[in-house]
Amino acid sequence: MSKMNRLVCCALFFCATVSAELPDQGADRHMGVATCAASQCHGSAAPRDSSGVMQNEYVTWTRDDPHSKAYATLSSDASRAIAARLGIGSATAAKICLDCHADNVPAARRGEKFQLSDGVGCEACHGGAERWLSTHYNTPAVDHAANLAAGLYPTGEPEERARLCLSCHLGTADKFATHRIMAAGHPRLSFELDTFTELWRTAGRQPHYRVDADYASRKATYSHSYVWAEGVIAEARARMGLVLHRNFDSGAMFPELGLYDCHACHRSMKSVQWRALPRHGNAGPGLPYLNDGALVMSLALARVVDATLASGFQERLAELHVSGSRDVASIRTAARRLLESLDALDRKLGPATLAQREPQLLRELLATGAKGNYIDYVSAEQAFMAVQMLVFEIGDTSLNARLDTLGDALSDDERYSPARFRSLLAQLGE
Ligand code: HEC
Ligand code: HEC
Ligand code: HEC
Ligand code: HEC
Repeated sequence: MSKMNRLVCCALFFCATVSAELPDQGADRHMGVATCAASQCHGSAAPRDSSGVMQNEYVTWTRDDPHSKAYATLSSDASRAIAARLGIGSATAAKICLDCHADNVPAARRGEKFQLSDGVGCEACHGGAERWLSTHYNTPAVDHAANLAAGLYPTGEPEERARLCLSCHLGTADKFATHRIMAAGHPRLSFELDTFTELWRTAGRQPHYRVDADYASRKATYSHSYVWAEGVIAEARARMGLVLHRNFDSGAMFPELGLYDCHACHRSMKSVQWRALPRHGNAGPGLPYLNDGALVMSLALARVVDATLASGFQERLAELHVSGSRDVASIRTAARRLLESLDALDRKLGPATLAQREPQLLRELLATGAKGNYIDYVSAEQAFMAVQMLVFEIGDTSLNARLDTLGDALSDDERYSPARFRSLLAQLGE
């Protein structure tokens, strides 16, 4: 959609159906973190109250945000070992690593103060500042719509934020942490938008922004459940998009295994964990299943938003898995149908849709979990993050201790026990 349309719709506070260009796309130059870091801009030592934003964002990013270390990670022993196994030379110079561990825009789009070693810097998320740098702080009133029109990325909008984070935390057709990269030692990636946005707050970390009255005067604010919902829909869509892309099936013996449930293959042969789940249709044992964690959460969401839509959704999800024993063309047909269901679900979802239905969504997750439908590790992980988000949102602190136990049950995927996870989820629902 054109920049003009974006400006108009953001003035109305609803940008949900609009897709902005991701920061690494487009033509704007990235001016470099040093450009943002002056003490009167975002480099103050302590938060300030004089302007709408904290102004110590640079210090917070440097100290508390793992993104500032993302480039340095490429010189670690672990990265050296990964690069050696892949035979790609130094990870600090390999495009495939830099594309996610730095703001790796082409040389022509790097300003004078740009440094690759800044890692995932301000403009890797907020967009190249070439056109908005000199105007984005204009007083008396910050004109957010004008900033967006000048290339500021809409990080405040859940759907747009999800696409941004997922471009590195899942990958895209252009940059993907393939099974080859995983098998060389890269950690498995998993993501949930609300939890990962909140991780900025945990472990002594501070987020680099605050959502206060001033923020609300400039931008729309959203509930955690809405951020979660847009996040799972965006991930499910992105995963289906990757299945449709030619990289999924390059003609080799195996499709891209990085899109599958890792634990479908990587688990002990001693205990037979496979169970017939409704969402697998009659696919049966012995198949690798596509990683459907985000689809499974979208299905739970559909159940509280629109029951008819949900039953069609579940059939299509079963089709996706059953077609895994046929051919790539059938998998893709199922993926396309699921994309239609996801679009329909997204159309039914507004910022207030879940407002009265959070307890119902929590009950749905716990009841479906108690039946054993989330025993595979990816669904378990997603179910845990969703349940945790809802318990916090609803404000039921009496469940905190049991939530911690549930989280502990997932802390080591090598020692994960599906039966234990299932019974812990069931206990939470009692
Ligand atoms: C340009 C790629 C990129 C983008 C965009 C990106 N990330 Fe990251 N993120 C990374 C990398 C790489 C790491 C690992 C950093 C390290 O440890 O070296 C990371 C780490 C994290 C971590 C720490 C995870 C942990 O296990 O502690 C969180 C939380 C996180 N990102 C959240 C987000 C959120 C939320 C967004 C979207 C607003 C986002 N990221 C966008 C690349 C990206
Ligand atoms: C699709 C994006 C993507 C690509 C490609 C990618 N990474 Fe990562 N990498 C990430 C993200 C995101 C994380 C953080 C995962 C988390 O904690 O949730 C990460 C984490 C890591 C970690 C663990 C960091 C820590 O603090 O424990 C290492 C090491 C690493 N990456 C090295 C590499 C190397 C070397 C390459 C190139 C061969 C590479 N990565 C390619 C996205 C990517
Ligand atoms: C991993 C992605 C990411 C990186 C890196 C990042 N930000 Fe942010 N930033 C966000 C998100 C997400 C928000 C909160 C949502 C929003 O935009 O309102 C935010 C919010 C802000 C805000 C508050 C906006 C407001 O309207 O109140 C400022 C200012 C800001 N960031 C500046 C910076 C600066 C300066 C840096 C670099 C030192 C930086 N950010 C690095 C993602 C990022
Ligand atoms: C369809 C089955 C299958 C799926 C799904 C799968 N893998 Fe693998 N994986 C393999 C095979 C086969 C090997 C090669 C084993 C060997 O080298 O002996 C392997 C190797 C590995 C290795 C190296 C093990 C070693 O000892 O060298 C790692 C790490 C790994 N995979 C991680 C993952 C991750 C992470 C995922 C999910 C994103 C995943 N795998 C999904 C089949 C699978």
